[in-house]
Amino acid sequence: MIISGKAKLAGVIGWPVGHSRSPRLHGFWLDQYGIDGAYVPLAVPPERLEQAIRALPALGFRGANVTVPHKEAALRAMDRVDAVARRIGAVNTIVVGADGLLEGRNTDAYGFITNLRRGAPGWRPESGPALVLGAGGAARAVVAALVDAGVPEVRLHNRTAAKAEALAGDIGGPIRVIPEPDVAGAALLVNTTTLGMTGQSPLELDLTDLPADAVVTDIVYTPLITPLLAAAQARGTVIVDGLGMLLHQAVPGFEAWFGVCPEVTPDLCRFVLEK
Ligand code: ATR
Repeated sequence: MIISGKAKLAGVIGWPVGHSRSPRLHGFWLDQYGIDGAYVPLAVPPERLEQAIRALPALGFRGANVTVPHKEAALRAMDRVDAVARRIGAVNTIVVGADGLLEGRNTDAYGFITNLRRGAPGWRPESGPALVLGAGGAARAVVAALVDAGVPEVRLHNRTAAKAEALAGDIGGPIRVIPEPDVAGAALLVNTTTLGMTGQSPLELDLTDLPADAVVTDIVYTPLITPLLAAAQARGTVIVDGLGMLLHQAVPGFEAWFGVCPEVTPDLCRFVLEK
């Protein structure tokens, strides 16, 4: 698509940023809705992050996404931070306000819960405890989403227990840190670790005691069906892959910058996975 001198601008700030699928994702929507706009990769090293973020209003950007490794540092460069981002301790979406000030949001929790509800319509927060594996940045968004949805208990397991304890303290709510990843009694199992990702070892977990009606989801989406999801599927368990979290987290940003609430469709999934 050819853009005009009036094009609306946004982008994704990361380091490196070449792996990001966000330009493809937002580019698909810009084309689909015929919007005069551009969404570009912005490779910014850590030592220039604040300078780059502060330049967004001056350059006429409507905002940006923030990805690895900048999500936590970006929070400190904002003029305003919404409650979810503050609680998670990370910003993935920046919106330049009408007053030119930088507003930090976190849409990862929204992306996770929307993907889960779409992918497993039978899942209800009140169905029972959720077992969450991992305590990194992604886990913070996942746990916040589950607590806010009303899950009665989040059982949190991480290789480094101290990180799980810190997460529980920061997010608050019914979170119990457990020393072993025990699947018994869990209505939902979420992998937020990097295990199972292409090039990494698979997540080794015995699913024998997982209730038959539980749902298993993985935030890893390369490969789309991780060894964990394949094992769950093989025993007839409902699974939800991680691509939808990426797609749904992008919706609020796109709407704020470009003025259209975009749809997550099978065509979009295929397009984003192609490269
Ligand atoms: P993200 O922001 O994507 O969540 P991260 O902050 O690097 O990434 O977190 C990675 C998560 O995967 C952490 O929970 C990490 O466990 P530690 O906190 O103990 O480091 C987990 N992880 C990574 N490699 C792992 C491995 N080999 N075994 C178990 N957990 C692992």
